[in-house]
Amino acid sequence: MLSSQGRLVAAKSSSVSSIAARALSTSIASASSSTPVKSAGVPLTRAGDDAVATHTLAKWSGGPVSRAGTGGRSSVSGVVATVFGSTGFIGRYLVNRLGRVGSQLILPYRGDEHAYRHLKPMGDLGQFSFPFYHLRDKDTVKRLVEHSNVVFNLVGQEFATRNFSLHDVHVTGAETIARACQEAGVGRLIHVSALNASTESRSPFLQSKALGEQAVLAAFPNATIIRPATLFGPEDRLFNRLSVPMRTPFGVPLQNYGETRKQPIYVVDVARALIRAMEERTTAGKTFELVGPKEYTTAQLLQYMCDMARRPMRAFHVPSEIAE
Ligand SMILES: NC(=O)c1ccc[n+]([C@@H]2O[C@H](COP(=O)([O-])OP(=O)(O)OC[C@H]3O[C@@H](n4cnc5c(N)ncnc54)[C@H](OP(=O)(O)O)[C@@H]3O)[C@@H](O)[C@H]2O)c1
Repeated sequence: MLSSQGRLVAAKSSSVSSIAARALSTSIASASSSTPVKSAGVPLTRAGDDAVATHTLAKWSGGPVSRAGTGGRSSVSGVVATVFGSTGFIGRYLVNRLGRVGSQLILPYRGDEHAYRHLKPMGDLGQFSFPFYHLRDKDTVKRLVEHSNVVFNLVGQEFATRNFSLHDVHVTGAETIARACQEAGVGRLIHVSALNASTESRSPFLQSKALGEQAVLAAFPNATIIRPATLFGPEDRLFNRLSVPMRTPFGVPLQNYGETRKQPIYVVDVARALIRAMEERTTAGKTFELVGPKEYTTAQLLQYMCDMARRPMRAFHVPSEIAE
């Protein structure tokens, strides 16, 4: 069964610093296993988590804003961060974790106000600003990062669209952000790539992610690269995507006879890892691969879903050439 507390495991890779990756996963593990905080005799499980996050964030210094307050949403954590791609899946979890300890966030968006309105309650009044931007507008991107001491880049898309190719978003866009950070003297850049990103990959998505990493490191050598595996969580594109064909009489189309292996990671763990990467200065210039604790085949994941939904498992094979 999938654990909702998917732990982060630092995978071995020549380009990955295993020591720092171990440190990252250890510090995350120790944060989650610490004794729950008690208030007036009542154990606070979720708030205990908050207290840990507050405590560790409070150690983070180096920003232009001084810390103030008791560490809750109405305090000032000292972190001023720009989060590109905050309107997406990981974004909401990262913004919530940063917001609840009183960080000041610049959350650029494209589209209209509906794109970001779910993020508004995550910060105290006046703590978040939502400027409109275009990824190709280098001057605006630079203005968006120049007051921040940390920048997160979560911008990504699975497929090319009419207006943006994968290269536009994952390489040119990532380079624009990294260059703006370098020119504006931003302290930390955390760039989110993807597990198995490689220029040798058959997948155009993974190829563009690998090229993006190279472009980011060329522009901002101290960037921290985070490569998460497939994520799961309420808004994921793993279980939600399987759930639609699962209800049809035909069943779910599976490539590779359902033997494709995945090591899904919980979205909250990725958000926590991003914050840890920001806090730990030793992560600068390093690459981390984030995977869940267990490996599953896609057929096992589908079986798990069908069991939970009490539905018979129906699936059929689709050759990779057709699926791609
Ligand atoms: N989800 C996963 O399983 C997974 C696994 C491995 C790696 N990743 C990577 O992790 C990062 C975040 O993933 P996610 O699941 O949060 O992605 P997501 O839900 O698709 O969100 C992507 C974000 O990027 C923005 N974006 C996309 N194209 C853009 C463009 N041309 N200009 C400006 N903004 C653009 C989106 O803005 P709008 O809201 O306006 O569209 C959104 O805020 C991505 O780089 C993704 O490739 C994700």
